[in-house]
Amino acid sequence: MNIHKFKELKDQNKKISMITCYDYTFAQIINSTDINCILVGDSAAMTMHGHPNTICADIQMMELHTKAVVKGAPGKFIIADLPFLSYRKDLNSNMNAVHTLMQTGAHAVKLEGAAGNIDLIRHIVESGVPVMGHIGLTPQAVHQLGGFKVQGKTQDAQASLKQQAKALEQAGCFSIVLECVPDTLAKEITDDLSIPTIGIGAGIDTSGQVLVLQDLLGLNPNFKPKFVKQYANGFDFVKNAINQYHNEVTHCEFPDENHSFSNPLESKDKERVI
Ligand code: KIV
Repeated sequence: MNIHKFKELKDQNKKISMITCYDYTFAQIINSTDINCILVGDSAAMTMHGHPNTICADIQMMELHTKAVVKGAPGKFIIADLPFLSYRKDLNSNMNAVHTLMQTGAHAVKLEGAAGNIDLIRHIVESGVPVMGHIGLTPQAVHQLGGFKVQGKTQDAQASLKQQAKALEQAGCFSIVLECVPDTLAKEITDDLSIPTIGIGAGIDTSGQVLVLQDLLGLNPNFKPKFVKQYANGFDFVKNAINQYHNEVTHCEFPDENHSFSNPLESKDKERVI
C-alpha cells in the first residue's frame, strides 16, 4: 500500500480497510491479515491509557505507540495521528511534531480539521510527508462540539463540511477520514472528491472504513455506539482464558509436566526455554 494505491483503489471502486492499532502484539496480528492500512490513532489515549477523550494524547505518547506498531507491522502502510494542539502552534513546533512521528517509521500523518490547517497541510505535503485529513466529528475538538455528536445535521453544516473536504483535497491530502456524519452527506463528499474518503459512522458509500481495534474485537462491552460492529466477543474470550488459568493454578493443574523443566541429571532430553 502507498498513497497512490489509495487513489487507485478509489478509481477502481475498491474499498479500503483501515484499523487502529497501538502496540507491537496486535500489530503483528494485523500484519498477518489482509487489512490495507493501520492508523495509530490518538484514540490510544482512551483505549490504552483510560482517558475520557483524546485531549491527553501528546507527541511522546504517539511516538511510543507508533514505534511499537511499526516494529510489529513492517508490511503495512501506517498513518500516525498528530495529537491535540501539536500542529496548532508555530510552524517550527508543528513541523517538529511531524518530524518526530515520521521518524518512527510511519508513512503518513493524520490531523483533524480544515480551518486554520490548510497552509500547514500544504507545507507538510510539500516537505514530502503524506497527510490524511479528518473532518466531521473531530474528537480533539470535543469540548467545542459539545460532546461526541453526529456532525453535519443542518444545511449550513453540510455545506461547510463539503467545503472543508474540498479544501483538504486542494491542500494535498491523500485521503480524508469522515467521522460521524450522515451517510448521504458522506456519499456526496466522496463523489465530489478525487481522493478517497475513509468513513467511521459515515455509512457504506465512503471509499473505505476505519474502526478502532478494541471496538471491533468487543474488548470493551460498555462502549457500543451505533456505528461500531463487534466482530468478536473479545472481553469474554480474554476473561474466560484468564479465569481458566486462575482455576488451574488454584487447583494445582498448571503447570503440568508439559510446561515444566525436568532435571537434566535425570533426563537426556535437551530442553529449551522457548
Ligand atoms: O484516533 C482515532 O482512532 C481516529 C479514528 C477514529 C479515525 O482518529
